[in-house]
Amino acid sequence: MPSVTEILDSMDYGPAPEASGEVVAWLKARGTFGHFIDGAFTRPGKTFATSNPATGEPLASVALGSASDVAEAVKAARAAYPAWSKLSGHERARWLYALARHVQKRERFLAVLETLDNGKPIRESRDIDVPLVARHFYHHAGWAEMLEEEFPGARPLGVCGQIIPWNFPLLMLAWKIAPALAAGNTVVLKPAEQTPLTALAFAEICAEIGLPKGVVNIVTGDGETGAALVGAEVDKIAFTGSTEVGRAIRKATAGTGKKLTLELGGKSPFVVFADADLDAAVEGVVDAIWFNQGQVCCAGSRILVAESAAGSFQQRLTARMAKLRLGDPLDKSTDVGAIVDATQLARIRDLVAQGEAQGAVLHQAPAQLPPHGCFFAPGFLTNVAPANIVSEVEIFGPVATLATFRTPDEAVELANNTRYGLAASIWSENISLALDVASKVKAGVVWINCTNVFDAGAGFGGYRESGFGREGGREGMREYLAVPPPRAVPEAEAGRLDAAPYPGPASRGTAPIDRTAKLYIGGAQKRPDSGYSYAVMARGREIGLAGLGNRKDIRNAVEAAHSAKGWGKATGHNRAQVLYYLAENLAAREAEFVTRLKAAGVAKPADEVALAIRRAFHYAAQADKFDGAVHSTKSAHVTLAMPEPFGVMGIACPDDAPLLGFLSLVLPAVAMGNRVVAIPAPSMPLAATDLYQVFDTSDLPGGVINIVTGAKDELAKVLAQHDDVAAMWYCGGPEGRAMAETESGGNLKATWTFANRDWRGAGGQGREFLLRATQVKNIWVPYGE
Ligand code: NAI
Repeated sequence: MPSVTEILDSMDYGPAPEASGEVVAWLKARGTFGHFIDGAFTRPGKTFATSNPATGEPLASVALGSASDVAEAVKAARAAYPAWSKLSGHERARWLYALARHVQKRERFLAVLETLDNGKPIRESRDIDVPLVARHFYHHAGWAEMLEEEFPGARPLGVCGQIIPWNFPLLMLAWKIAPALAAGNTVVLKPAEQTPLTALAFAEICAEIGLPKGVVNIVTGDGETGAALVGAEVDKIAFTGSTEVGRAIRKATAGTGKKLTLELGGKSPFVVFADADLDAAVEGVVDAIWFNQGQVCCAGSRILVAESAAGSFQQRLTARMAKLRLGDPLDKSTDVGAIVDATQLARIRDLVAQGEAQGAVLHQAPAQLPPHGCFFAPGFLTNVAPANIVSEVEIFGPVATLATFRTPDEAVELANNTRYGLAASIWSENISLALDVASKVKAGVVWINCTNVFDAGAGFGGYRESGFGREGGREGMREYLAVPPPRAVPEAEAGRLDAAPYPGPASRGTAPIDRTAKLYIGGAQKRPDSGYSYAVMARGREIGLAGLGNRKDIRNAVEAAHSAKGWGKATGHNRAQVLYYLAENLAAREAEFVTRLKAAGVAKPADEVALAIRRAFHYAAQADKFDGAVHSTKSAHVTLAMPEPFGVMGIACPDDAPLLGFLSLVLPAVAMGNRVVAIPAPSMPLAATDLYQVFDTSDLPGGVINIVTGAKDELAKVLAQHDDVAAMWYCGGPEGRAMAETESGGNLKATWTFANRDWRGAGGQGREFLLRATQVKNIWVPYGE
């Protein structure tokens, strides 16, 4: 023990461990944990051990969930659903308040348990994770209270399967369970195999407050248990974890009708401009990548610094790194704790070694690693070429890469040079520069002059291969609710409509192409690459010929759509003007369209055309009205929720309502700033190809709407597989829907697949189309000293 004068000399921190006696006694008393199903713990069958990564000591044995355990849990959740979903929002709110209060009551206990199981410093679990858990339950209690008012007509989904990783075990649980329950769903949650204990402590809280049986079920286990939950009779899967598993889940759920949200990996940029407060930015790095052992999906793991400030920044970073305290996670003065387990530690070591072998230089804190446990000294890598493995792959450890840029444009280019898009952190004292870069980076969350700030009131989730869907706030609530179209067309009827005349191989004629309606690509009519056309039939009679588009035409159309970038940057007002003009031009040719639809055998053609015109005016009106929000989150923060277009969208239109169905999908997408490649109704594409002249006379920039006619599913498959298409809508039968979801798994594009609906009814138009045509970017801007 050093003397007081020695301490004053060195100013070193003494050990200040948080007491763990209560938690250790609890673990001992519980012995082996079963699953929590239907309000009680089961008798454990097969088990596995969970241990303390800081010491290697085992903490507890936990049941290894089998497919039949999962089925039991789903059955319990299903049985609990009717009563739970019928409670009033107010009644459910009271249960959520009770959960919040009981989490608060046990804050210290839960923080210690989390730190023991996960290895994260107690400062993080105690000061960040557990308070946020309570905040989530309070916040969502509020949504339950206001449900009918705030989400009119919405209904819960049913039973939700939720699978979470090990980096924020209890916080991820809250993030998933709180909105699900608030919306009226029941849940089966599978915690990560490395960190199941706080979920089991939470199960005890559920039992303690007398939450109705079966509303919350916890099944512990590994990836196989997770896969069993994905395959079980659930109505929704919410997953957080690796992109690889996310992609497998996308494929496994394709065509099942299970709603899906994925929150996956990231390789988030941390951009430091020369005019930034460099010391604050260095502290940002501590928070972003070191303080949490880098085990955060949104960790700012790619530091990009303005060349002119790079020397000074690296010096400060090195000095700060030397002062980080690594060691016992239970010690209140520890900055860097343990890596979650030996596998993850080996993965970090391996990736860093590969990076070094490819030329990167590792700068590491001179920390003394404890003799036992999974520890990795924090560091950063320089001399990292863009093709180096550490530039591309998520390390998920306390090591960032450090590279430089010269201009803001280069910073944006480097920031976006990744397949991920979860988060970004931007440091500059020039607010207009920071906001400009924030608007240009492709990420679901952008922190300006701050990093890793979370709150239940803001949405969180990614762009691109970081997944889709949002958690938190109003955006997250929507993921647990369905708004059924008031008059959905029954599946049988929708199927019949989809079976309308369809260009199969047999109908590939060799009609001269000049009699044929061509494709519309980049604002010009184009001959299809195949040189073929197909006969469009109505009541057994040929009424025209349409181009038979192929893979190459789709590729050209996507390219043309990409080139029309200006549309996404145009103001809502500009887009509105074009759409008003389009509506007017459509109205001017109303009679021609009525004649065309009449010839095609469409019932009440005048009604359909009149409605199509109204719809064009509606989305023109929405172009500058559908906007975002400023969320109420932390004090001295503005949190902007900005809906942004996806970019290039693929849309496979319904066979039914060839004009109205087409416009009902294409117009909201372009009103929000997307560029579209659309496949019109294959049985009657002429209603869409007749629009070419309307587009041409409406000042619609070339490439904003591209039309490829032909075999719908063949073309839709190419669109779904295309890596430069960011979102895909498919309206049609179950096989086509499954295909569109499966094929979209490659770049994890956001999909919306649905059966044909009554386009003339209230479900044919509205906010849902606009919500589906946008993704929300949450931008955090702190203010004050
Ligand atoms: P993982 O994706 O394998 O595990 C996450 C959760 O999914 C766990 O509960 C696991 O049991 C479950 N799971 C695994 N395979 C499954 C399957 N086939 N079907 C359903 N559920 C399944 O992630 P893991 O192995 O823990 O970490 C690997 C890498 O993933 C990390 O190094 C990191 O790069 C990334 N990761 C990203 C996270 C994020 O927050 N986005 C969190 C954890 C890991």
